[in-house]
Amino acid sequence: MKVRSHAKINWALRITGRRADGFHDLETLFQAISLHDDLTFEPAARLSLTCDDPLIPVDDTNLVIRAARALGSPPVAIDLRKRIPSGGGLGGGSSNAAATLMALDAMFELKTSRVRMHEIALQLGSDVPFFLDGGTAYATGRGEALTPLAAPSSEIALLLLIPEERVSTREAFARITRYSKPAGIAAFRTALTTDFLAHADLLVNDFEEPIFAMLPRLGELKRRLLEAGAAWAGMSGSGSTIAGAFRDARSRDEAERAFDDVFGVRRVAAAF
Ligand code: C5P
Repeated sequence: MKVRSHAKINWALRITGRRADGFHDLETLFQAISLHDDLTFEPAARLSLTCDDPLIPVDDTNLVIRAARALGSPPVAIDLRKRIPSGGGLGGGSSNAAATLMALDAMFELKTSRVRMHEIALQLGSDVPFFLDGGTAYATGRGEALTPLAAPSSEIALLLLIPEERVSTREAFARITRYSKPAGIAAFRTALTTDFLAHADLLVNDFEEPIFAMLPRLGELKRRLLEAGAAWAGMSGSGSTIAGAFRDARSRDEAERAFDDVFGVRRVAAAF
């Protein structure tokens, strides 16, 4: 069985408080995007993982292996072809975990209930439940209290700038010193059904301030995206990816050339 495991960006991300369990409460608008990894699964004598990226551990610490174990699936040989960078704020590992849960459940007809799938997903990571359904979704809690929403109604072409600098999510949360008030789901519903990219005041990410202070080049990339004609630009998750949104693919492709002189930044055109 072969499946795609899509990346996400966060259109907005507000950290709304710190919890007794050490996690933070947040409010975010997730968006699954076209950039994806490929996973293949074959029945085997024992559980194993291979990956084309030598920097990714293939042992028991990998979320794919942890997902297969948590689901209690029969043993499989799993192969992972990576395109989504890890530590880029694009949810690569979380997406791989969710794709593994869904694929193995289907492949072995385990008929795991939705509630149980969601529970296992959240044990694996705060972003994993979102990737069970993907699409566009409003989330609160750790990111697991999800409401699916319609994708933005206006045409949008994305340009992802993926710097070689990596950010640890845990460290990013540790740098948060102020909490925001949630904007509320109604504001996002309105934005999604009107001129989405015109809602700059809504589409903010609380990680930008502390992460841009630590890695000023990321703030510079955001500024340059806006200069190059992006209707909206912002960091995804806890970084380091900076996403630019354009009103059509032509203006996106034109803007991409403005980054020809920038080294150590991978450019990826994406849609959703
Ligand atoms: O859930 P996940 O494993 O992705 O989280 C990684 C780390 O990020 C957690 O150990 C925690 O320090 C931090 N985190 C948080 N609040 C969240 C999600 C993650 O503090 N909602």
